[in-house]
This record gives sequence, C-alpha cells and structure tokens, in this order.
Amino acid sequence: MRREPLQITTSGTPLTQVEADVLAVLVVEPGRLTPAGAALDASLDGRLAHLLADGELKATTGSVGLVHTRGELGAHRIAAVGVGSEDAIDADALRTAAARVAARIGEIGGGTIAWVIGDGLALPLVEQGRAVVDGTVLATYDPGAWKTHGERRAPLTQLILCGPEAASVAEEAEWAGVVADWTNRCRDLVDMPANELTPTRLAETAAEIAASVPHLRCEILGPEEIRGAGMGALAAVAQGSATEPRLIVLEYDPPGARDDLRLGLVGKAITFDTGGISLKPSARMEEMKSDMAGGAAVVTGIAAIAALGLPIRAIAVVPATENMPGGRAYRPGDILTALNGKTIEITNTDAEGRLVLADALVDARRRGATHIVDLATLTGAVVIALGDFYAGLMGNDEGWLGEIEAAAAASGDHAWRLPLHETYARYIKSIYADMKNSSDLRQAGSIYAARFLQEFAGEGPWAHLDIAGTGYLERSRGDYYTAKGATGYGVRLLAALAERLVR
Ligand code: BES
Ligand code: MN
Ligand code: ZN
Repeated sequence: MRREPLQITTSGTPLTQVEADVLAVLVVEPGRLTPAGAALDASLDGRLAHLLADGELKATTGSVGLVHTRGELGAHRIAAVGVGSEDAIDADALRTAAARVAARIGEIGGGTIAWVIGDGLALPLVEQGRAVVDGTVLATYDPGAWKTHGERRAPLTQLILCGPEAASVAEEAEWAGVVADWTNRCRDLVDMPANELTPTRLAETAAEIAASVPHLRCEILGPEEIRGAGMGALAAVAQGSATEPRLIVLEYDPPGARDDLRLGLVGKAITFDTGGISLKPSARMEEMKSDMAGGAAVVTGIAAIAALGLPIRAIAVVPATENMPGGRAYRPGDILTALNGKTIEITNTDAEGRLVLADALVDARRRGATHIVDLATLTGAVVIALGDFYAGLMGNDEGWLGEIEAAAAASGDHAWRLPLHETYARYIKSIYADMKNSSDLRQAGSIYAARFLQEFAGEGPWAHLDIAGTGYLERSRGDYYTAKGATGYGVRLLAALAERLVR
C-alpha cells in the first residue's frame, strides 16, 4: 500500500521556538533528562522534572510520556521518551524510541514530529539522525492493507531533526528516509499473500519500479526461457506449480560508476513454500508466503541504491517461483542439472531455496557480477541458531565478508558470521550426482545450505545471508520499528553496503 513519503528536514532554530505537534526529548537512567530536555523544562516551570520525580516519565527504552505545553514553547507537546542508560544508547535504542513516539503521535492524529539530535550523546550525530529517521518511517508501516474497515492511522507529515548541528546531517537524513521508505515497500511485498504476489506479479512490480527510477533496467525470463537457458534447478522447483515462474533481472548502470566492480544481488523468491512432495506440516504454513523476503529485499534494495543515485554498477537476479506438490512436481530422487552443468540429487523437495539460488548465482556471475551477496529465507536452522535479530552470514572471501559485516552493523540489519570450513564439503556428497540438496544428518543445516550454494558462487567474492529468522517475524521483537510479519530486512543493509563501496 503506497503512502506519501514523510517529509524530512533539519532545523537549527532554538528548541523553545521549534514549531511542531510534538518535540521529542530523551529520558535516561536513572530517570533524568538530557541537557536539551532540562533546558526546555526551564520554560515549563519544571513540570517534566516533577513528572520524573513522580515516576510518570520513565527511562525504560520505548516508554513515552506526553506533556502539553501552554504556549511556553513553539511545540504543542513534549514527548519524553525513555532510552535506557545514557552510555548504552545505540542506534537500535534510538530507533525504538523514535518508533514509539511516531506510533503515539499516529494514534493522536498525525502531524509534525520534531526530534532533538546531538544533545551530548556519545553516538555520532549522523547515526542519531539516521536512527531517528529509520524508527519514525518504519513505525508508519501498516500491515493491515487488506482490512475493509477499521481505522486507518492518520499519517505523519513531517519529521524535523533539531539542534545546533542538525543541518550538517541533512543529506544523510534524507537518504535514510529514502531507504526506510523502500524498506517499507519491501515489507508490503513480503506481507502480501501468495494468491496476490505470484511470481508474475513480483516481476511486474520489478518492471514498474525499474520504469520509475533512473538508470534501472528490467529483464524478465519466463518458463521456456528458464528451461532453455539451462536453469534445470529453478525449472524443477517451478514445475509443480500452476503459476508460472519468472527470473527477474534488474540492472543499475549509472553514469560515472567505476567499471572494475559490479555488485551482484541475488534473492530467493519462493512466493509460497509448501515444501513440495516433502510437504511441510500445516501449523503456521501461512508464514511461508514470506519465503520471497530475500527476493523482495534485492528488488527494493537495488531500487533504493538507484533512487539515491549511488555511482555503483549493480545487478539483481531474483528467481521467483512457488514450491508446490502435485502430479507434475519434482520428486525426491530426481537428479537435476544446474546452469553451470553440475548435477544435483534431490533428497528433500523442501530444500528448494538452494536450488533456485544455484541457477541465479551462476546467472549473476555470467552477467558480470564481480562481488555477490545473496539473501534468502533459507533454513529453519538459522532461526534455531541466531533467532530473530541476527541473520546468518557465510561466504568465501574474508575481505568481502568484512564489508557485509560493517554494512550490517551500520544499517541495523544485523548479521553474525557462521563458519564455512572446507570439512563441511563432505556433507553435500551424493552417491549418484555431484551433490545432494539435503542430508539426514541433523547437523549445521545453515552451513550445509551455504556450502551447497558455494558450488555455484563462482570465482569472485560471494557472501550469503540466511534471513529466515530476520526477514519475517513470527512474533514481535518488542522494538516497535518492526512487528510480527515482514521487517524489510536487507534493504538498509544493501544501501549501506553500496554507500561503503562508493566512499
Ligand atoms: N523456506 C524454508 C526455510 C524457512 C524455515 C524459512 C522457517 C523461514 C522460516 C526452506 O525452504 C526450507 O524448507 N528449509 C528446510 C531445509 C531442509 C529440508 C534441509 C528447513 O530448514 O527445514
Ligand atoms: Mn522449503
Ligand atoms: Zn523455502
């Protein structure tokens, strides 16, 4: 569902004169204001200090107290928002605080939020600005687009970052707003049910996005072209479904980009994963509409990179299909030939993500990707290992993995390394073919999958992000800038990665 983007500005106006529906200040442990809030409270006869003393305003991360001004300030209200202990304030805490304020103001009825940044915090000003923008924009996401009645939240119209130095981060704040907006568009796609978001519809969306952003080009392959090109793994997964597969390719080729580097983005887009003949249990199977979260992140991530006009060449390859059982479905025991000629014995049709990615990785290399990162809701095992906050990160190149880790940390799309030692190569051995797609060893399932992908990643640097736990939440994380459902994981990471590479 499309929203008007939030207007993001900066202002050096004295805080007492800032005009807004609400001006947000921080409450830190043990229940005290930061310097900006304390200075404002002087104009409010110390009412904030009284409320703190009475325990009505709290430092607990995300707690919000609203206090009306009586014409003493330009702002109509103060939001005093808890962020925990001052020396532990990081971007995650600020995102949560900003999201809480945005949600409260949304309930009241929209308008303008002013946020004080700077204010003696150790966190660099630019990171404060980005976190406040992220938290505010992500909090406006509404998953209830299919409700025919019930209240629509009144939209926020403007976010003003305030403080003497705020203007120095104006450009970064505006960029963060663009990226957060694409993150919400990613969430739209991931939350969309599989009867609406078919591979065809995803391809159409990618084409529309390409037409709306400069220097972005879209190419779509249908079933005959997929089969004809030799993508036997993607074709096999797709053959059980009545809806056609698509291979979606987006190329971003801006003028002035260096030509020794072409970023390759590969994303798994299983629009619904039933498991196929190796059928999944029915409990919570509806969540498998989100098995295209990697593909959605890649489509909207390259769009964000292009919308920012970053001077970097990039190519996105997204294999999109359903994984269904049926009379035409691929079977356990089948042996497939992938695009690079390698053969795969199928031992579990539910290990389909690695199959569609195999062909897409080879295709991305052939199209000239020098540095590849793939995103995929690939294994339940990564949810067991890392839960819902860190994606699993594996790859073949230390330097490249370092870049991904840095982008992950900077963006708030967190990632944690898992080892990819050569000894794991024995896991994927098959008696009949070059490899098999799963094993009955209940060991290191996420590493197994990554080691399988490595067979198709080609020569250059490649990194794999297993986002099964982070792309779509089974339940809220309590951080307020995400909720149960789609998170848009990867969009902010990919934009941060591209920014690092052009710096
Ligand atoms: N899409 C699933 C992985 C998944 C699980 C994503 C839970 C999000 C939440 C993937 O295709 C899958 O089914 N993986 C299997 C692999 C197994 C058969 C080797 C799994 O993890 O159980
Ligand atoms: Mn599966
Ligand atoms: Zn899957």
